[in-house]
Amino acid sequence: MTETFKPGSKRKAPDDEADPDLQDLRDPDPPQSFGGSRSSQPDPRRSGPPDPGVSADDYFRHLYDTEPDFAQLAKQDPDFKAVVQPNGQLDFTNPHATMQLTKTLLQADFGLKIDLPEDRLCPPVPNRHNYILWLKDLMDTTSYNPPGRPLCGLDVGTGASCIYPLLGTRQRPWTFVATDIDDKNLAYARRNIHLNNLSSRIHLLSRQPSDPLIPFDHPSIKTKTIDFVMMNPPFYSSPDEMLSSAQKKSRPPMSACTGAPVEMVCSGGELSHVGRLLRESLALRDRVQWYTTMLGKLSSLEALVEQLREAGIDNYAVTEFVQGSKTRRWALGWSFAPMRPAEHAARGMKAAIWKKLLPPATTTDLLQLPVDTPVEPVIARINDIGLGLASENVWSRAWRRKKLREQSQQGLDNNMQDPSPSQQPAECRLGFEIRVVMGKAKTSVSLHWREGHDPLLFESFGGFLSRKLKENK
Ligand SMILES: C[S@@+](CC[C@H](N)C(=O)[O-])C[C@H]1O[C@@H](n2cnc3c(N)ncnc32)[C@H](O)[C@@H]1O
Repeated sequence: MTETFKPGSKRKAPDDEADPDLQDLRDPDPPQSFGGSRSSQPDPRRSGPPDPGVSADDYFRHLYDTEPDFAQLAKQDPDFKAVVQPNGQLDFTNPHATMQLTKTLLQADFGLKIDLPEDRLCPPVPNRHNYILWLKDLMDTTSYNPPGRPLCGLDVGTGASCIYPLLGTRQRPWTFVATDIDDKNLAYARRNIHLNNLSSRIHLLSRQPSDPLIPFDHPSIKTKTIDFVMMNPPFYSSPDEMLSSAQKKSRPPMSACTGAPVEMVCSGGELSHVGRLLRESLALRDRVQWYTTMLGKLSSLEALVEQLREAGIDNYAVTEFVQGSKTRRWALGWSFAPMRPAEHAARGMKAAIWKKLLPPATTTDLLQLPVDTPVEPVIARINDIGLGLASENVWSRAWRRKKLREQSQQGLDNNMQDPSPSQQPAECRLGFEIRVVMGKAKTSVSLHWREGHDPLLFESFGGFLSRKLKENK
């Protein structure tokens, strides 16, 4: 049956009631340290999730800053109480216990209900939530619109849980296209969409393994553009690799902890799957603003950053998701569009050794002043504090000399006329923002790169402004 999908249709209020079963499998390393803190204080977040929107960002951002309080969760949910051990810990090698944790967290923290089969991947909520938090940062900071605008995303390989579209729609006015190739996953995903009354906002598509990952070819997709693509690709390159990984972790093979081969294995593993996405992106270019993927291997991230650079893609973002003491995942995004993500979204890997993987910096500190020094005289010579767009390197001496020459040749009359459309710049080469932050101890002035493809232009402008501000000190 062919369905027609239009992004932006209205959301209905979720109907409710918790449902049972689930767990993850491509998340090796059961986070043994992810044990419940035994605080006797009720956790304020347990008063329930707020309504979606930017005003709820703070609640969602800090949900998993500390480990979930298993004692508190057990009080809230008898199904969870039944799987917590007498010592208050959870046995992460027990698929039933980990599945219940996922169900309980989704219900308690997001008001979501979920049903999962025992032989498919069960997603760990904090890790999947981290991806959504990062996407929010990426999309919010690569638009001149205020944060929180409605967006249409594509989740490639949504799984039985349909977890990304569920989490995304719960937090923002987003709509999703969600695809999968596995009938059982599709059946459960459909059920989970329905359980949460999200049929008008999540459009599920059955795909063949040989179909394009981005389903613009599908007759139901009427939109010409998608704001973002997200993907948690099959991780392993062979069933053997998957089985030996499950054995090393003392996990039952083909359970919700390990997933099924159809969802966890593809020829060439995640590197080859993301390679497919990259090739499709090179053809589709601006039809998607951000192409993103999660990665389970650091070596894949290194190889893919290299491939992006070889393809001439200068606008990309990397980050890492850390859960507990052992589990680490990475995410990579790339864009053909000129809007540059904020530093925290684009360069989310802190260790110095990963500096070589990072895209160019998008923030530069211009000046710091003691808090009692008035800032106004310092910034008076910058024409505008706020957002700016430059079509050329207008701050360089050479540009100013060139402009003076042109003006004297054109004569006064010409200068009084508006520029003709052909004289107007076709694109903005540098969009920037200057921020003045008055803290308790100091005032900082910083420059933020918002738009453009040329890091040298941004650096040069930063140097120019910095000199101007220091002249003024
Ligand atoms: C690692 S699982 C991720 C599931 C879910 N998104 C999550 O994060 O828990 C990969 C998913 O991709 C699906 N998949 C594999 N190849 C695909 C393809 N060519 N197109 C769409 N989905 C695919 C699998 O069936 C599986 O559900």
